[in-house]
Amino acid sequence: MSSIPVRIVSLGKAVPKTVITNDDLTKILDTSDEWITTRTGIKQRHISSGDENSLTIGIQAARDALNKADLKGEDIDLIIAATSNPYNIYPSTGCAISEAIETKTGTVAFDITAACTGMIYAMEIARSMISSGKYNRALLVATDTVSKFVNWEDRSSCVLFGDGASAMVIEKSQDGIDDIIAIDINADGKQGKHITMHLNGTNCPLVEPATPANERVLMNGREVYKFVVTTMPDSVNNCIENCGLKPEDIDYLIPHQANLRIIDALQQRLNYTDEKVITNIDKYGNTSAASVGIALSEAIEQGKVKTPSTAILCAFGAGMTWGSVIVRLREGIY
Ligand code: ACO
Repeated sequence: MSSIPVRIVSLGKAVPKTVITNDDLTKILDTSDEWITTRTGIKQRHISSGDENSLTIGIQAARDALNKADLKGEDIDLIIAATSNPYNIYPSTGCAISEAIETKTGTVAFDITAACTGMIYAMEIARSMISSGKYNRALLVATDTVSKFVNWEDRSSCVLFGDGASAMVIEKSQDGIDDIIAIDINADGKQGKHITMHLNGTNCPLVEPATPANERVLMNGREVYKFVVTTMPDSVNNCIENCGLKPEDIDYLIPHQANLRIIDALQQRLNYTDEKVITNIDKYGNTSAASVGIALSEAIEQGKVKTPSTAILCAFGAGMTWGSVIVRLREGIY
């Protein structure tokens, strides 16, 4: 599909060290392990503490992906960080990662915000930039710490999220084989109202008295659910059909880990067995942009995804954004 094909070289991931279980949450919320488990499939999540933030775990995930491919910062000429919870607005997470991994001066680095679809958006952008012939090797880092921005008194949203980061190195393919077989990304701003996090700052005190900034996640879970159960399967089907494949041609489904019921509905629509569908929502909750990358990386490490193989990654998130990508996983990638 691209003029210059791309190769997926390596994957990385990182999560904060502290684990919060559903039972832990009952100490601060009127909730129960039974409610959270049956409605979402989540049993625990990793939560930032101390100095941990989306930049620190993003750097860890980036180093993990570089180390696995025996690469250094100087080997990267493009960094795209997908985050909705940047530690700084500037310097961008991409620029700060470029400093941490010591890229050459001039290496392009920037952030994108596509919420939980961030990694798939980043893959589309990186693929296009590499295919233009101008860039050789990209480091993609998807990192979010939603725990710092949820309202911990709102039981219908805070229980869903965990913090995490994932990374991927992609480069110009030398053998003419494209590892991004098909990709489909979408957005619908009209649906944006269902998940919001305003960063409204405060007006100049000369024109108005100080007003408190509002930086908390607000979510209408039921509306998100309704929207996603139709758009997500449609995106997956489009992606598969547009490249002339059938669902049975693809070895694995790596869905965004937002809700096990949404994953089950997708699995049924594709008629996939449990072995083909990767879930780790029980351990991590919804890690936003990092989710599909963590699921893929961990599944390969655990041998649940064997290589060589193909997989379809799909995600949805605030915006609303959603998308799918069919990838080739070469032998030995991890
Ligand atoms: N513990 C106990 N009870 C709860 C909790 C909780 N943690 N949360 C809500 N409830 C209660 C509600 O108050 C409600 O009680 P009521 O009937 O007395 O009013 C009842 O449970 C049912 O609430 P619903 O919202 O109808 O529950 P639902 O079955 O729809 O599940 C959920 C809620 C899990 C949020 C679901 O709607 C969902 O997963 N939606 C998708 C969310 C999502 O994927 N978001 C992605 C965001 S990604 C991003 O980009 C940030």
